[in-house]
Amino acid sequence: MPAPSRTSDGAAPAALSARAVTKRYGALVANDGIDLDVRPGEILALLGENGAGKSTLVKILSGLVRPDSGEVTVGGARLPAADPQAARAAGIGVVHQHFMLVPDMTATENVALAQGTTGRYDAAAIRARLVEIGERHGMPVRPDVPVETLPVGERQRVEILKCLLSDARVVSSTSPAPCSPPPSGTASPRSSPSWPQRAWPSC
Ligand SMILES: Nc1ncnc2c1ncn2[C@@H]1O[C@H](COP(=O)(O)OP(=O)(O)OP(=O)(O)O)[C@@H](O)[C@H]1O
Ligand SMILES: [Mg+2]
Repeated sequence: MPAPSRTSDGAAPAALSARAVTKRYGALVANDGIDLDVRPGEILALLGENGAGKSTLVKILSGLVRPDSGEVTVGGARLPAADPQAARAAGIGVVHQHFMLVPDMTATENVALAQGTTGRYDAAAIRARLVEIGERHGMPVRPDVPVETLPVGERQRVEILKCLLSDARVVSSTSPAPCSPPPSGTASPRSSPSWPQRAWPSC
């Protein structure tokens, strides 16, 4: 179904919406009828104690977890449940709380993998873009060494850049702050004018 360009009240549709999203793990209700709208340009913080269900919601929004009920829409178009490729194609990017990098691959190779690259690929072009975007956002990374040899803060920067280089338009970052000290003398990525227009830090 094509995405509506306007809602019934004439407003632009939310960049990302959840409606009545519920997820249970056995008797435990991790998400209980969650309604959420993220507007274009909005930065939204989702706060809750440990185990409140923040990461579960992010995983549902990014297609990693299937909700028991409810739906997710991007720009007004419904996302298929539990379909990470569809979520990524719709522009939803996640900087995960726990690293999702292949440890013995370089930053360049991890970015290529995240972009769904198969077979031969232009490693030099991906490397150049990684370096360029990293420097532009004040998040330099070494592109050619296995990420397992990088300090935690640099690995977190690789995670963020991996997300940005996948053309994400809605970025959810899950608790990156404790392991992501900004390089000294640089601006926060979120204060950068070229950071994606829609971002919502959470969990
Ligand atoms: N795969 C799973 N199987 C069973 N229970 C789960 C699973 N994933 C999450 N839970 C439970 O669901 C609840 C919500 O977990 P979730 O990770 O979403 O919380 P959170 O708000 O992100 O917590 P934190 O602040 O510690 O990251 C917790 O009680 C957790 O133990
Ligand atoms: Mg969490």
